[in-house]
Amino acid sequence: MSDPVRIGNATLYLGDCRDLFPALALMDALVTDPPYGIGMDGGKVGKSEYAQMDWDGATNPEAIQQAQAITHYHIIFGGNYYPLPPSGHWLVWDKQNDPTTFADFEMAWTNLGKASRMIRHLWSGPYQKVRETRFHPTQKPLAVMEWAIQQLPDDCMTVFDPFAGSGTTGVACAHLGRQFIGIEKVPAYFEIMRRRIEEAQRQADLFIPMTQQEKATDSLRNYDLALEEMQKR
Ligand SMILES: C[S@@+](CC[C@H](N)C(=O)[O-])C[C@H]1O[C@@H](n2cnc3c(N)ncnc32)[C@H](O)[C@@H]1O
Repeated sequence: MSDPVRIGNATLYLGDCRDLFPALALMDALVTDPPYGIGMDGGKVGKSEYAQMDWDGATNPEAIQQAQAITHYHIIFGGNYYPLPPSGHWLVWDKQNDPTTFADFEMAWTNLGKASRMIRHLWSGPYQKVRETRFHPTQKPLAVMEWAIQQLPDDCMTVFDPFAGSGTTGVACAHLGRQFIGIEKVPAYFEIMRRRIEEAQRQADLFIPMTQQEKATDSLRNYDLALEEMQKR
């Protein structure tokens, strides 16, 4: 396992999350978009062509269980592909797609104990309001990740994504002034995540209120103390 990379309030690990779980302390929230087991790990997606990888041949229910065990709140995109208990609290992203191509919507399983909610966000075709650079075949729109994180309780400061891909969850955390801990096993995606989060934090310095940044820094300090305590045991 390589040493983590620290960028402001983000801590990024390159490696397999299953090897890293035992070295992590308790965190507030799991917000993740794990493999759905549908073979979306490369090739042509929309107009973009991606290097063929091999990470979406199967789901990883054991890893999700381990991630849930070290977090209080859970938002799991593609939760409908995983053996999770019944929940009345789903988050739904309506993709407003042309129905002849991709799925009309994606669902995130949650344990938030609130009403189910939906966001409508167009992600493909000529009528998108915001055009984001695509780095990853299953990249999530930033607006959708930000909205998902905003569904967490306000005092939920540490967000964990063990299947971080190109780091959209981490970019959303930088924009919202939350502490982020991310893991990605493919070095090329890890590098993209690192660059995206560095850029997002530079911008965030300009528009995140100081009080929120201080809360994220306090949260990081507490997390580091918890890690130190664990290592002493
Ligand atoms: C669905 S993608 C996440 C995409 C991300 N939401 C984004 O916006 O870029 C899942 C990611 O998990 C990574 N992955 C799969 N198995 C992993 C494991 N055991 N440990 C760490 N990362 C893993 C894959 O390489 C892939 O980048």
